[in-house]
Amino acid sequence: MISIIGSGRVGTSIAFLCVSHALDDVLLVNRTEDKAIGESLDVSNAIPNTSHFSIHGTSDYSKITGSAIVVITASMGVYLKDRTENMKPQIDMIKEIAQKVRQYCPDAIVLVVSNPLDILTYFFQKEINFSRFKVFGIASSLDTNRFRYLVSEKFSVPQSSIGDALVLGEHGDSMVPIFSRTKVDGKPLLSLIDEKEKSAITTSVRNYWKNLRHYKSRSQFGIAKNTFDVINSIVNDQEVSVPVSVVLEGEYGEVDVAMGVPVLINHSGISKILTVNLDNSEIVLLKKSSQRIRDQINSV
Ligand SMILES: NC(=O)c1ccc[n+]([C@@H]2O[C@H](COP(=O)([O-])OP(=O)(O)OC[C@H]3O[C@@H](n4cnc5c(N)ncnc54)[C@H](OP(=O)(O)O)[C@@H]3O)[C@@H](O)[C@H]2O)c1
Repeated sequence: MISIIGSGRVGTSIAFLCVSHALDDVLLVNRTEDKAIGESLDVSNAIPNTSHFSIHGTSDYSKITGSAIVVITASMGVYLKDRTENMKPQIDMIKEIAQKVRQYCPDAIVLVVSNPLDILTYFFQKEINFSRFKVFGIASSLDTNRFRYLVSEKFSVPQSSIGDALVLGEHGDSMVPIFSRTKVDGKPLLSLIDEKEKSAITTSVRNYWKNLRHYKSRSQFGIAKNTFDVINSIVNDQEVSVPVSVVLEGEYGEVDVAMGVPVLINHSGISKILTVNLDNSEIVLLKKSSQRIRDQINSV
């Protein structure tokens, strides 16, 4: 069973993808029970007639018992200028959820989606004390898709023409698009743009959510698909290479912080943290990004 904590926009969109692809049974757990029940009644109509699985809604955490995967999309409020705005109540919330998950499904793999992403991933893993390879945050793959989209738009080419795009570090203002690896139709991106254009793309990737919010209240489908892809790889044991936020123990020269790094994911969670070559400027930016997350963790 896949338990999704929080049945707002993001949780319900993930549920819709899991249910319509007949991945597994889905349980929506929401603070306000009626919302979980209502959303599950709606999403249940997307169950294919060949599916063995169903969806239900509840506010009762004991029903997550035995879940193989728990996805956390719960949120106590909306941030307006920075993802860290509601940090303290979000940390308190995620610690409570960690206690429930430890109590009812100690063997689950946990995907954190709620913001501030890296900080919540860190505190959740510390609170629940599961292997760090079974608790990780989904966001850098979304940031990577945003980077790829912006580059494809700039060069008016399809996204399939963009190779090896990657965004690492914080899911926040210090995220680091990795230009040195990215290719457009096989040509190094850095050979096609100047410093000013590079800087403009970086700003656009970091501010993508602000631009999106100018036109619509909040993002939901992109993060839902990115989360679904990871759930799918776990459920079907199809290894994927994707950047996720994970507590680091020496990788990329970092300890005791969670941030987006490339990993391999399979049936048992993260099977390997990958090392990718970065240029000197990217190494400096990634260090700044990890420090920004660490400062926020230490401020709690
Ligand atoms: N990782 C990413 O890249 C990414 C992208 C987009 C969004 N996000 C984050 O994802 C989160 C969800 O966004 P959203 O737009 O879906 O928010 P939303 O529509 O406000 O939904 C949040 C839901 O969480 C529920 N909730 C609050 N505390 C709970 C608890 N302790 N247990 C169970 N449910 C609880 C709320 O219940 P009520 O009905 O009682 O209010 C609400 O239904 C936010 O933190 C957002 O910033 C992350």
